[in-house]
Formats: sequence, C-alpha cells, structure tokens
Amino acid sequence: MKVYNIAVLPGDGIGPEVTSEAVKVLRKLSEIDVSFQFETEEFNWNSEYYLRHGSMMPEDGLEQLRDFDAILFGAIGDSRVPDPVTIWELILPIRKNFQQYVNFRPIKLLNGLESPLKKDAPIDFAIIRENSEGEYTNSGGAMFQGEDREMAVQNTVMTRQGVKQITEFAYDYAREHGLSKVTNATKSNAVIHTMNFWDRVVEEIAEENKDIGYEKYYIDALAAYFVQRPESFEVVLASNLFGDILSDLGSAIVGGLGIAPSGNINPSGEFPSMFEAVHGSAPDIAGKGVANPMAQIWSAALMLEHLGRKDLHDTVLAAMEEVLAEKKVLTPDIGGASSTEEVGDAIIGKLKNNGVIE
Ligand code: NAD
Ligand code: IPM
Ligand code: MN
Repeated sequence: MKVYNIAVLPGDGIGPEVTSEAVKVLRKLSEIDVSFQFETEEFNWNSEYYLRHGSMMPEDGLEQLRDFDAILFGAIGDSRVPDPVTIWELILPIRKNFQQYVNFRPIKLLNGLESPLKKDAPIDFAIIRENSEGEYTNSGGAMFQGEDREMAVQNTVMTRQGVKQITEFAYDYAREHGLSKVTNATKSNAVIHTMNFWDRVVEEIAEENKDIGYEKYYIDALAAYFVQRPESFEVVLASNLFGDILSDLGSAIVGGLGIAPSGNINPSGEFPSMFEAVHGSAPDIAGKGVANPMAQIWSAALMLEHLGRKDLHDTVLAAMEEVLAEKKVLTPDIGGASSTEEVGDAIIGKLKNNGVIE
C-alpha cells in the first residue's frame, strides 16, 4: 500500500478551520480507495507559537519539513504579530528554500457557481506566478526613521534563471494541457529595468515555443480584461507581486476567495511542494465556523494531482461541483447559510458515488 507523508501546518484564523475539513476529505478518500493511506503530522507553527517562542518555527523547521511528500498549509496572520514577521519567518522561507518557484493558481468557474460577471462563456485559465524572487525580496533598507529625511528602498530582484524557469514551466503546462497561448503580465513601460529584463527573457523562451501563441499586456489593462473577457485567457504568466494581485482578482470572478486554490510547486521534486488556499487567515470571520473550506479542499486536491493521483483530484472536484450545483449546503460567502463543517461533510458525502476513482 502506498503511504503519503503529509506535513500539515494549519496556521492562524480560519486556517485550522478549513484545513481540518481538507484533512477529513483526504482521510475519506483513503477509506474509499484502500490502495493508499495518508500519514499526517501536524505542526502548529503559527502566531501563537511565535508569541511563546519568539519565532514562527523552530531553527530546524525546514529540516523537519524537508522529507515529507507534500505540505498542506492553512493560512497565517494575526493582529498580535506584525504581518511581515509571520510571512518572512514562515511562508516565504518555505517557498524560497524549497525552491517552490511556481505558484500555480487555477481560475476556473466550477459547475454550480455563477460569476458576478454574468457571462455565458466558461472561465477556465491558470495563473502561473513566479514564486521565489521578483518583488518579494528582503533586499533594500530603511534609514533615518522618524526624521524628515526618512527613506526606504525596496529592490526587486529578477534573475535570468528565475524568469527562464517560470516561463518554461508556463509553456510546458500549456503544451501538456493542449492550450494555445501564454499571456505575459508586464509593466515594462514604467518599471524599466526589471520588467524589461523579464519581457526579454520571457520572449526568448516564447521564440523557442512557437507552437504555442504568445501575447503581452500591461498589467493595468490586463486587470480590466480579466473582468471584460476572462474567457480569452488560458495561461497567464506573472511576476510574484503581479501574480499575487491578479489571483485575488481572478478568484473574485469565479466565486471569491472561499473557492480559490493554489499550489507552491517545486517542479524538480527535490523538495516538498506546498498546497494552500489563495486566501489568508480572514480575521473578520475567524472563529465563527463560517469560512468556506472549498478553497482548501481544492488545494488538497491539487496536492493529490501533484502526488500522481489526478483521478482523486477529479473525484474531489466532482464532489465539490455536485454540492455547488445542489445549492443546499453552502457557506455565506457564496450565498448559503451552512457552516464550514457542514460543507466539508456534504463534499465527503458526495465522494463515494461519482465513480471516477481509477
Ligand atoms: P484574507 O484572504 O484573509 O481575507 C479577505 C476577505 O476574504 C475577507 O473578507 C475574508 O473574510 C474573505 N475570505 C477569505 N477566505 C475566505 C473563506 N475561506 N471563506 C469565506 N470568506 C473568506 O485577506 P486579508 O484580510 O487581506 O488578510 C488577513 C491576514 O491573512 C493578514 O494577516 C495577511 O497577511 C494574511 N494572509 C495570509 C495568507 C497566507 O497565509 N497564505 C494569504 C493572504 C493573506
Ligand atoms: C498569497 C498571500 C501571500 C503572498 C502573502 C501572505 C505573503 O497573499 O499566498 O497570495 O503574497 O504570496
Ligand atoms: Mn495573496
């Protein structure tokens, strides 16, 4: 029997609420299909941990995670700890050190959900976001705090290897999925050094992949096109910050942050990949039991696909779509009145019958 070892980091706020539903789904799948099991180990590295220990994870935290098959991450963020601390001491070290240079974020309107755009055309594309460098660096500094001459400098760092590898991933993804074009999100008209370099390297790779189309838009116009004609996109390639912003916008046109999943992928397999909803810890609804667990359950499904079980991914998606189409058990963010747990249970209830497990 195949055993998958999964590190579970529930995090803060709604992170633990939605992650426990995702783990429930994984357990149920391994009951239905007895050919595999999950061994999960929970790491409560969150803001509470920081308040007790003065750091977001132990010194050897990355070492502890390194040999897992994958990581399932909830969300972090808590008003008692500054956001840059939670982010720079936990999420970003994992993404950067484990060379999870791809942030894969599907933007797909599931059956049973309506887009606020009221469009008939299907919305189904992927944001492929550079996830290890770019605008998210600690290069820079600040001086003269509190004085009139106070200043701050934040450097964007783009490397040839970094831009090349994410662009190649986007083209490989397009080809493997029978897609016809890659859309480059840029701002090389104003951000002249890094974004011109980004465009140049992206276009070198585009030249080598002429069987797949290429287009480039400035990100401001592209944001408008996401609303006006989202059906025209297949693969959107973006830098770290641009991809971050586009993914919340993308989620909003297909049902919101309660639905949107993501995978932080290390394509070489040298380190574990990490799966987490696009959303954060949602302090405004945390503790109320109303967070939509679908984004995290879908993220767990992406993890299954990454582990080689696309059949299980499809099973989970089919169950989610059944629950959405019935419109009986939904959380408030998508128009229902049910709880996080009720939605998790409803999805589990649908897992058995759809018969797509290999
Ligand atoms: P957020 O994504 O937490 O919340 C934005 C809005 O979406 C809120 O109104 C929230 O209630 C709603 N929402 C989010 N997830 C939902 C769900 N599953 N069901 C229903 N509604 C949902 O973004 P924010 O408010 O900007 O950030 C809150 C905290 O989370 C901050 O500390 C931020 O730094 C952190 N954050 C963490 C991650 C992460 O851990 N990966 C991601 C984004 C933000
Ligand atoms: C996300 C989040 C993170 C990001 C933060 C928490 C660093 O917003 O996963 O989208 O910007 O990547
Ligand atoms: Mn984000």
